[in-house]
Amino acid sequence: MADFEVVIYEKSKGTAYITLNRPQALNAYNIRMRDELYEVLGAIRDDPEVEVAILKGAGEKAFCAGADLTEFLTAPPPVFARRVRFDRDIWVWFLGIDKPFIAALHGYVLGSGIEMALCCDIRLASDDARFGLPEPGLGIIPAAGGSQTLPRTIGRAAALEMLMSGGWLTADEALKIRLVNRVVSRDNLLPEAEKLADRIKSHDTGAVRLAKQAVTRGMDLTLEEGLKLEKALYRRLVENRTE
Ligand code: COA
Repeated sequence: MADFEVVIYEKSKGTAYITLNRPQALNAYNIRMRDELYEVLGAIRDDPEVEVAILKGAGEKAFCAGADLTEFLTAPPPVFARRVRFDRDIWVWFLGIDKPFIAALHGYVLGSGIEMALCCDIRLASDDARFGLPEPGLGIIPAAGGSQTLPRTIGRAAALEMLMSGGWLTADEALKIRLVNRVVSRDNLLPEAEKLADRIKSHDTGAVRLAKQAVTRGMDLTLEEGLKLEKALYRRLVENRTE
């Protein structure tokens, strides 16, 4: 795999670790990071050894402080055009990977930081995490899927409050609105994510992936269509076992 500058990719016993690695800029998401994430996500999707992935941020202060404001304010048009293309592609693609993703969130989790976390299936936060969508204050709306993934995760009213007010949430407040699954101490964040990854890996890989598909694809369907999807996925699982 190419040399990476702003993302660290590691693999151990079936778990892939993706670390956003620009701690000096609070892991702000820039074009380079998007390009590297694109490659890493492809590797995770295609590597049969990877069963589960953990997404985290380097450094003490942040998981990710959102889009890189220096690029955001100065990017020339061709770069901007490329950025738009990638924004569109990478998030749909990320959300379509059927392997489980766990986000381990600490410190600042802002803007695209929240959106990246929302592409993951399970979000663990340390008690120092602070969540916010600065977009309304910047006169923009989310462009990494957040306007769609947030209401699907926390419901319409809570999502609209976050998206329109730009207010910040503590880890406990994020837990209350179910933006995160669990809050743990900072020291326990990675160990808890790894414990969860191990528990997931102890189960049948096919069943885990189809459960993810049933829920993520089913949420965009009517109940009737969703029940059909569940039946089809169940059949696929059982038929694969008896072949
Ligand atoms: N883009 C680019 N650089 C960023 C950044 C971002 N989104 N967020 C932080 N940084 C950089 C700062 O410019 C600073 O760099 P410097 O040391 O070279 O001056 C470094 O990261 C540390 O940030 P700093 O502001 O000194 O830390 P802080 O603890 O005082 O404040 C924040 C932290 C998150 C409140 C503040 O950095 C901030 O508001 N960032 C912008 C968040 C944002 O609007 N994101 C865009 C969402 S669309």
